[in-house]
Amino acid sequence: MANQDKFASLIGSERPEPSNIVIFGANGDLTKRKLLPALAHMHRWNLLGPHSRIIGVVRQKWSHAHWVNYVHDELLNYFPEAVLNPPSWQRIAEKLDVVSGDLSDMETYRKLAAQLHANEGKKNALFYLAIPPAWYETVARNLHEAGLADQNEGFRRIVVEKPFGMDLASARDLNTRIQTYFDESQIYRIDHYLGKEAVQNLMVFRFANSVLEPLWNHKHIDHVQITVSESLGIGYRAGYYETSGALRDMIQSHLMQVMAMVAMEPPVSLDADDVRDEKMKVLRSIRPFASEDIDSLTLRAQYGAGEMDGEQLKSYREEDSVAEDSCTETFAAVKFYIDNWRWSGVPFVLRTGKRLPSRVSEICIRFKQPPQHLFRMDDSSALNNDLVFRLQPNEGMQLSMTAKRPGLGTELRRVNLDASYGLVGSGMPEAYETLLHDVMLGEAGLFSRADEVEECWKIVEPVLKAWAAKTEIATYPGGSFDVPGMDALLDDCEGGWRDVSNVE
Ligand SMILES: NC(=O)c1ccc[n+]([C@@H]2O[C@H](COP(=O)([O-])OP(=O)(O)OC[C@H]3O[C@@H](n4cnc5c(N)ncnc54)[C@H](OP(=O)(O)O)[C@@H]3O)[C@@H](O)[C@H]2O)c1
Repeated sequence: MANQDKFASLIGSERPEPSNIVIFGANGDLTKRKLLPALAHMHRWNLLGPHSRIIGVVRQKWSHAHWVNYVHDELLNYFPEAVLNPPSWQRIAEKLDVVSGDLSDMETYRKLAAQLHANEGKKNALFYLAIPPAWYETVARNLHEAGLADQNEGFRRIVVEKPFGMDLASARDLNTRIQTYFDESQIYRIDHYLGKEAVQNLMVFRFANSVLEPLWNHKHIDHVQITVSESLGIGYRAGYYETSGALRDMIQSHLMQVMAMVAMEPPVSLDADDVRDEKMKVLRSIRPFASEDIDSLTLRAQYGAGEMDGEQLKSYREEDSVAEDSCTETFAAVKFYIDNWRWSGVPFVLRTGKRLPSRVSEICIRFKQPPQHLFRMDDSSALNNDLVFRLQPNEGMQLSMTAKRPGLGTELRRVNLDASYGLVGSGMPEAYETLLHDVMLGEAGLFSRADEVEECWKIVEPVLKAWAAKTEIATYPGGSFDVPGMDALLDDCEGGWRDVSNVE
């Protein structure tokens, strides 16, 4: 099957209207590593259409030729197939335009308005804010003042990256400010985890099959584990990470969104607000953290020096631009309870960390053991059934069962039923392609609504405050899962943590 057809069959036949894709921060890291490759993929799959344009906004005085060369070179680094076929690259190059100017200067927006106007008859525009969060409000206001938020001639949508606020107050404030200039229906808050194939499949597996629904509740599920384990350290991101930490960076946003999708009731329809209403109900049912429970329900730690694949690893405090006495957590785990009928008493335990032994993201639904153990087993955890949705690596689903070992006795063993999502490499849409495609279609279901973002901050706020008051932090050796207290967090959960240290 040709690539184009393969993708068309993946996404359905819907193709977005042509659009001006305006990227603020066009020479930044996100643009080169994620947005340009995603747009090149979309072009390859014929999803941009001949009249769409990719307009970069940079503060340097760049000529059109400079921008075209820049995109060429970055694609060569991050998606070489896009430029190695000259006719195909030529068609991408024809879509490129650049506007030079500072984000604070109204002249930048007047030039942009002229560019949009020049694209006669093609007035749709999405504005992607790939810029530091401190600039979100300025850009939204200036777009509005230049008349670019006005939807008289075509759609106008603004895409906002994470982090969306640093706490409840700042998130509320940012929402209010952006909503002054753009209607909520025009605002797309990116959570790229929701664009991942496995997360979307979660909805399909839950609501397009009847077999799971009767089991999807406190009667059959012992607990849920959601893990995002990263093997890398913080790299060059100390400036951001020192003010953020793992709870803000990962749990408050990505992992809580994924938890809401695991736990939500079937929506009335797949319309964005119907799905988001159901996620909101889950978030509102989460048991608030009482200050006396925070130590038993949450865990934080920081990576110390360690070793991985024979390489000596620096501790977090030794990383560039990290304070010598930093108490920022590079590992966070939180045990949530969702106090509703379906999930009463079922812990949802979310953990994430850097400098762990593997790069794995997965959701594990652990079912209860059978009421009676007819068969003798040395390791009773083998009797738990785990349903795992793997986000990376090798996106797919796995159900672990207990089976008889072939032979005369009744020895038991674990067997895994594996369902990989089948398409790898360039055949599988990446999260940013899916999300950009959805913005162009006006489908907001995979984007966070203002109230969801605020609710997530509200839930974690007591934990953030309690952690901020601490002057010490436990460490774990880089490259290991030896996080003090990690096992105790699952004391009342059957089977303990899933071992994800060797997942391939
Ligand atoms: N990188 C990622 O993987 C990633 C992942 C998730 C979320 N994000 C979010 O995405 C956004 C961008 O991140 P990034 O990593 O790409 O940051 P970055 O590499 O620092 O890029 C920031 C961009 O904003 C531009 N900019 C800043 N001030 C400007 C001004 N006054 N006028 C014009 N342009 C200005 C910068 O231009 P100059 O080069 O001229 O300064 C640069 O192009 C951030 O909100 C970040 O939190 C990034």
